[in-house]
Amino acid sequence: MSRKGKLYGIGVGPGDPDLITIKAVRILKSVSVIFAASSTKNDYSLARNIICKHAPNANIETLPFPMNNDKVVLQKAWERNAKTVLKALSERGDVAFVTLGDPMTYSTFSYLLKTVRNIESQTDVEIIPGITSYQAAASVANIPLVQGDQSLVVVSGAKGSDKLLQTLKRVDNIVILKTYKYFDKIYETLANLDLLDQSTFFSRLGLPGEEIVRNVKSLKSATTSYLSLIIVNRTNNQNLDDK
Ligand SMILES: C[S@@+](CC[C@H](N)C(=O)[O-])C[C@H]1O[C@@H](n2cnc3c(N)ncnc32)[C@H](O)[C@@H]1O
Repeated sequence: MSRKGKLYGIGVGPGDPDLITIKAVRILKSVSVIFAASSTKNDYSLARNIICKHAPNANIETLPFPMNNDKVVLQKAWERNAKTVLKALSERGDVAFVTLGDPMTYSTFSYLLKTVRNIESQTDVEIIPGITSYQAAASVANIPLVQGDQSLVVVSGAKGSDKLLQTLKRVDNIVILKTYKYFDKIYETLANLDLLDQSTFFSRLGLPGEEIVRNVKSLKSATTSYLSLIIVNRTNNQNLDDK
């Protein structure tokens, strides 16, 4: 008789293979198969490198995720992927899906989870949190994310939208992920609000080519990597180890 396994959503941290939890490593070593989305830019190969360091014998399989904005195409792909995962749960026991950073922060895992649960609502799931990219950024640059009664908002720059402008006007400190596509627009918005020198840019954290730029002003018209983010620290522009 088939045994239904558990689906683990595992965060493997932002890039440095040492920034993964002990629990994540234990589970990665125990599952029958580890799934990773194959086309979210270079996430897949980075996640693979991290896994291989801790679980060299892991059986890693990719779930194809088309580079497409068509909702119908995407939904079909996720249904196919969810069925692959459900089949593995029935036939092979426990499986994992890995994600860079944290699985519940702008992650493909949340789409997979929703689709799996739509097909089989009783699927047993456990999520192992990961260190997010912006936590790693704050640590490497000694920038407190929030202090006292300050507020912090995490936004996506993927659309370079008006929402970003409105948020920047209202909140103390802001993390902007996915800055790569509309970097120019984000730069312009920060410049208009006179926030460039309170903004720190991070790229490829914990990976070869890591870059930290303390004052975003120097990045005018720059081309930035997919793995880039900005922390705007409006109330604390004197970073602890600044200048
Ligand atoms: C799809 S989101 C994934 C977020 C991830 N789940 C997390 O917890 O940080 C991808 C964005 O995360 C950020 N990111 C992830 N890893 C990063 C790294 N090593 N260095 C800089 N930014 C990173 C970038 O803003 C990138 O565009």
